[in-house]
Amino acid sequence: MTNRPVVAGVDGSVSALHAVRWAAKEAVRREKPLRLVHACFVPPKPPHVPVALPREYGEALIEQGHEWLAEAATAARSVDDRVEVDTDLRVGAAAETLTTASAEADLVVLGSRGLGGFSGLLVGSVSVALAHHGQCPVVVVRGRTPESAPPETGPIVVGVDNSANCDAALDFAFASAAALEVPLLAVHTWNDLSLEHGWPVMPMQLDYTRIGEDEERGLTAHLTAWREKYPEVRLVERSVRDRPVRGLLKAAEGAQLLVVGSHGRGGFAGMCLGSTSQSLLHHSTCPVAVLRPDTSR
Ligand SMILES: Nc1ncnc2c1ncn2[C@@H]1O[C@H](COP(=O)(O)OP(=O)(O)OP(=O)(O)O)[C@@H](O)[C@H]1O
Ligand SMILES: [Mg+2]
Repeated sequence: MTNRPVVAGVDGSVSALHAVRWAAKEAVRREKPLRLVHACFVPPKPPHVPVALPREYGEALIEQGHEWLAEAATAARSVDDRVEVDTDLRVGAAAETLTTASAEADLVVLGSRGLGGFSGLLVGSVSVALAHHGQCPVVVVRGRTPESAPPETGPIVVGVDNSANCDAALDFAFASAAALEVPLLAVHTWNDLSLEHGWPVMPMQLDYTRIGEDEERGLTAHLTAWREKYPEVRLVERSVRDRPVRGLLKAAEGAQLLVVGSHGRGGFAGMCLGSTSQSLLHHSTCPVAVLRPDTSR
């Protein structure tokens, strides 16, 4: 077993501290070290200030970064003093630095918002970038509002499109439900093709009962391997005739974690993050784990 750390991104924001606490718990559970990373962007040319500064602009930014990291380490230890924490200040742009860090990480955990952005922004650009380009599983921590504390109880919900694209998400969701000993709700939505609008003039009746039964059977079949591997997980299968985002958001009401693949059947080679996962990231009321097919650890 490698000792890849759980990485949490720290930028001095409330949301990042929620992520740090979530990551601390997860690191202890995974028996991994927790690495707190702050990317400090030092502009090559400092802003013009018409008075002499007591010290270099970059120096001040780095000092502030170290303070944020120290505050985050204290927050992590307050969750569980068994957590093995180290801090890492890297000079560079946040999205790029964290993407590089993700290649060596077991998991990357970020807040949904940071210090930048504007009020009303649902998810910041760093979190979106990592959901697209992270080289390992990425969790964006949030609660009912982007900056509120995440829920700590409730089931785990996983979105299943019955294709291999969601298998990494299923691995992650089953392992998490087993470790946390909470129920797992596997949700498959099947109306995404809007069949009834496809042939508006055809004298044809679609038998939704039969389609629904087929989809249910498809879900049960797709979950076979995981059901066998995790007999202890209380699995609830739900196949619903709804659009994916609406169906999954409804199912995730009251959940503590929503797990999704990075793209579904509608994706194309090279696509990083499908529209369903993007929308869920923006509108979920609980933390969202995004699993690219090749990043299951
Ligand atoms: N410089 C950074 N170093 C480490 N982690 C960061 C940094 N900036 C952001 N993060 C992580 O990403 C999360 C989301 O912040 P993000 O920067 O995406 O949102 P924002 O500041 O609200 O918006 P934006 O920066 O896009 O204007 C933070 O909670 C934190 O976990
Ligand atoms: Mg930011």
